[in-house]
Amino acid sequence: MTSSATPKPPRHLLTLDDWTADEIEQVLALARDLKRKAKFGERPPLLAGKMLAQVYDKPSLRTRVSFEAAMARLGGSSTFMTSKEAGLLGRESLPDVAAVLGRMVDAIVIRTFSQQLIEDVAAYAACPVINGLSDERHPCQALADLLTIREACGTLDGVRLVFVGDGNNVARSLAVASGKVGVAMTLCAPDGFSFDDTFAKGLKKTVPQLNITLTKDLKAAIKNADIIYTDVWASMGQESESSARKQAFAAYQITEQIMAAAPQSCRFLHCLPAHRGDEVTDGVMDGPQSLVYEQAENRMHLAKGLLVTLIG
Ligand code: CP
Ligand code: NVA
Repeated sequence: MTSSATPKPPRHLLTLDDWTADEIEQVLALARDLKRKAKFGERPPLLAGKMLAQVYDKPSLRTRVSFEAAMARLGGSSTFMTSKEAGLLGRESLPDVAAVLGRMVDAIVIRTFSQQLIEDVAAYAACPVINGLSDERHPCQALADLLTIREACGTLDGVRLVFVGDGNNVARSLAVASGKVGVAMTLCAPDGFSFDDTFAKGLKKTVPQLNITLTKDLKAAIKNADIIYTDVWASMGQESESSARKQAFAAYQITEQIMAAAPQSCRFLHCLPAHRGDEVTDGVMDGPQSLVYEQAENRMHLAKGLLVTLIG
């Protein structure tokens, strides 16, 4: 007997806007469990026979290797290409590339400039598409950061997260994630670098419950911080603005003095790569409050939790 039922549409991670708190919790719980198992040398073959394609147009260490390691350690495999190599820059049409890739692999991670390109691939691929970073969003980073924040603070609810720097892809995804799980977020940025009006309006609609403060006053922002988080001042693709941004953000460097003005229990996070000496000093990066390497490691545990949720 043939079934006329249409297949369930794949669950994508393009932004966190359409992810519920329960879905996020499920991924975090899996990631935590798999992290604990990994510490005991356990590698359950939850992705045996599964295949991941990674399509990247920007450099990556953490995102690329976290997904590759997650697949390998859970029994699956992966392949890597640029979108030019995949054929997305004119060799054939985007719908053709996405449809073919989606029939050959179980999930696709894309890192590129345009958020729209990732969403277009998702529209034509019959498998989950994961945003590995666009100019606008970095949802995998935000999910992994929730894991790190929960480990550092014992909870997410009511945690005071202070993001100092550019209202960029990382800050945006952190804001949405914070709203979903009850983290209170402050974005501390100089004039012209806070969330733009369109994003701020959308944020209010997507996560009306989000406790968000937008300020340029660094001292006031960090006074009661549980977590101080920063990122590069010029993101990938903004290299030509580097020196102008260095000037604009000069007063926003995270120094030992800034950490000392925050509560003693405050922890420092950075998605990495860091530009040591710009947004953060060596003393903070390597200091006792820094969790940056644990945070980076959590990208891999999160990738496992995410992949098992989407294709396991
Ligand atoms: N944090 C992060 O996404 O690092 P990569 O650019 O190395 O992937
Ligand atoms: N905002 C940074 C994050 C890198 C992980 C960038 O887009 O370059």
